[in-house]
Amino acid sequence: MAILTKRRVGLVVSVVVGLAALAQAIQPPPPPLGKADKAGAWQTKAVPAQVRTLLARACADCHSNDTNWPWYARLSPGSWLMSDHVSRGRRRLNFSIEYTLDEEEIGEIVEAAGNGSMPPPSYLWMHPEARLSESDKALLNRWWMGDLTE
Ligand code: HEC
Repeated sequence: MAILTKRRVGLVVSVVVGLAALAQAIQPPPPPLGKADKAGAWQTKAVPAQVRTLLARACADCHSNDTNWPWYARLSPGSWLMSDHVSRGRRRLNFSIEYTLDEEEIGEIVEAAGNGSMPPPSYLWMHPEARLSESDKALLNRWWMGDLTE
């Protein structure tokens, strides 16, 4: 009986280890990374310096090419989730692309940040520094109201 149980445990362990190895072998390529965004949307006049700092802290990983790709981003299955987040996030909004944010986009940014849907709560768990305080949200509101000067 004891031997049987040991064997079963051994079997379960090897299946689990095998699956983990298989999952790890299936790696999405990291998103293209780069800091060459001198002329990106967040460097334009539409984005005052304080707002730029805030966006860089809380949104850049998914909404710019300036993505930080830490070691744990290379572990399955988290890597699948993160690479999906980054590619969908960038497709929706990429501050590294050279264009000027219009009023509608600024409104969407302020709304997503204000209602807590952005940054995604699952991201905040590993990135507490990206959490937005009430004063961060107030700053964004002032930006939207056109009430900020550089
Ligand atoms: C962990 C990655 C991640 C971070 C960090 C992040 N976003 Fe997003 N964001 C996404 C993804 C993914 C989508 C696309 C959602 C979809 O496809 O429906 C998105 C969509 C958006 C949209 C489009 C409207 C919407 O709600 O779908 C806005 C606006 C936005 N994000 C703003 C922000 C702002 C502002 C920040 C920082 C305060 C931020 N995001 C941080 C991943 C992220």
